[in-house]
Amino acid sequence: MNTDAMTLDVAAVELIEREATEALQRASNPDEVRLATAAAIGKRSALAALNQSLAAMDPDQRKRAGAVLNEVRERLTRLAAERRAALDDEQRGRRADAERLDLSETLPWVRRGSLNLVQQTRDRLEDTFLGMGFSVAEGPEVDSDWNTFDALNIPPAHPARSNFDTLYVDFGPPESTLLRPHTSPVQIRLMQSQPPPIYSVMPGRCYRKDTPDARHIPGFSQIEGLVVDRGITFGDLAGTIDTFTRAYFGPNIGSRLRPAYFPFTEPSAEYEITCAICEGAGCRTCSNTGWIELGGCGMVHPKVFENVGLDPEEWSGFAFGFGIDRLAQMRHEIPDMRVLLDNDLRFIRQF
Ligand code: PHE
Repeated sequence: MNTDAMTLDVAAVELIEREATEALQRASNPDEVRLATAAAIGKRSALAALNQSLAAMDPDQRKRAGAVLNEVRERLTRLAAERRAALDDEQRGRRADAERLDLSETLPWVRRGSLNLVQQTRDRLEDTFLGMGFSVAEGPEVDSDWNTFDALNIPPAHPARSNFDTLYVDFGPPESTLLRPHTSPVQIRLMQSQPPPIYSVMPGRCYRKDTPDARHIPGFSQIEGLVVDRGITFGDLAGTIDTFTRAYFGPNIGSRLRPAYFPFTEPSAEYEITCAICEGAGCRTCSNTGWIELGGCGMVHPKVFENVGLDPEEWSGFAFGFGIDRLAQMRHEIPDMRVLLDNDLRFIRQF
């Protein structure tokens, strides 16, 4: 055998590497990279053929020639991997571009919506009470007559039941299931589901068979408050309500508590604030009294504690229930509450 044939043709190796490098750099998609890689370092490549020829070399030659071929293979392998990664990136970028949704378009004639004023008011009230250390709880809008009346010390024949203008649901025995006319049943649910101390507010929708007027709508919202702990006094109730009024309305609105009657609190009071529409002078909205009744409050009646299995000798507490729509009405000086339901854009766009 010719010994010349047994040495590595360095010029040929250089040519092979240059051509393979150019082919890999030209590859413009993953398929082409795969083909160019196979042609450069695959089983049937010129490089592989050169590798085979190593077998015929003497050991010294083989070692040197093998090292040269190895380096070439490593360079081409690295280049192939780089090309593949670069093309993958490109492809991902193109796909992302194609799939991108342009949500930035603003049409001058389309206005952004906003939450209904009652919901905004509810959110603000929750924030105010959270800031005062209360937690927020909720209950269902359809409830039992026991949670709504009996447990709150209003037995079936009690005249207070008729004050509530309740809407009953056709479910179970007659008048056993109803659209809650106040949020007070959530007090009962709360006291039955967790041990005191309780410091919670419970906002939600309520329903009554009311005729709509400036201060009433038949589907309205209340926020109930309940505190149950040891040694709670009427002073705590009055202080809480005063703190709330200042925090929510600011310094221009005053409040007062007037003796009232609720079967589930004793003593009970009505919570009134200065009418914000006329600032106390008297107007149609406040029926010329200068005051607007926002809700009721009082010390939790011992019977109510007994009904939920709490010892009235050990626990005391207070409760309140305010109309959220009335609060919105006073805070935003809305003379007639019915606009809250009208869907009139001229009104809605103001909030
Ligand atoms: N639930 C009463 C109402 O709707 C308000 C109230 C709540 C009164 C809590 C006292 C205590 O009229």
